[in-house]
Amino acid sequence: MTPSAEPLSTAASSTAPANGAGVPRHVGIIMDGNRRWAQARGLPRALGHKAGAEAVRRAVTAAAESGVEWLTIFAFSSENWRRPAEEVRDLTGLMRLYLRNEVGSFVRDGIRLRVMGDRERFGPDIVSSIADAESRTARGTRLNLTVALSYGSRAEIAAATRAIARKAAMGEVDPAAIDEEMVARHLFTAQMPDPDLIIRTSGEQRLSNFLLWQSAYAEFVFMDVLWPDFDAAHFAEALGIFQGRERRYGVSAG
Ligand code: IPE
Ligand code: IPE
Ligand code: MG
Repeated sequence: MTPSAEPLSTAASSTAPANGAGVPRHVGIIMDGNRRWAQARGLPRALGHKAGAEAVRRAVTAAAESGVEWLTIFAFSSENWRRPAEEVRDLTGLMRLYLRNEVGSFVRDGIRLRVMGDRERFGPDIVSSIADAESRTARGTRLNLTVALSYGSRAEIAAATRAIARKAAMGEVDPAAIDEEMVARHLFTAQMPDPDLIIRTSGEQRLSNFLLWQSAYAEFVFMDVLWPDFDAAHFAEALGIFQGRERRYGVSAG
């Protein structure tokens, strides 16, 4: 929620690896652990989510300064609607504030914001704040930030399947021509490269319905830090672990 005071520096920060080979082009983050963070401090849940929103800014800055081109963050899942109404209200209120407070610094720092997911479920005021943020940041070229809101990967794949089936029924698509590229073109991520690295905080080791199709060959880094404590040093640590991995894509390293 705190707008960053300092513009992004143009050089890589001291904790971030230098640009170039080995920097993942697309990083996905499953931001987890807000409620446990609050609970550990005897604070209300809402303050855990507020601290989590502040950590988002640190992650965005760290990604941009590390030379990452695409950052996709999981902020609210399709399943999170089943949380208590009061918590959903707190989270929606934070989104509203976040969209209002951060857009100016995103424009200044060249960060292009997009939202993927079933945004209509949040109601007209959030829908219009999202549209406003997307259009005001549309010229950003430094970092493509995608926020997954009311997002579920299975719902996304089902929607893509419906769209392709509709085209087939209209005779626009030959079923025999449906291939991986066509499916990928019908996902929210159609214009994005696949994630190279997926980070999940809080020690949980699962995807919880995030980018299932797109993560086929992603590297996974699970970190013990709770999301509100996540900072540039954690981001750099995850990039360091990624750089030590050998990616094979099913082909022998020989
Ligand atoms: C992540 O933290 C934020 C959302 C999923 C909205 P949680 O709210 O899941 O916090 P924990 O994982 O229960 O600690
Ligand atoms: C995943 O976290 C969703 C987000 C980070 C938005 P959850 O806390 O909702 O996932 P589970 O319940 O631990 O699988
Ligand atoms: Mg959680």
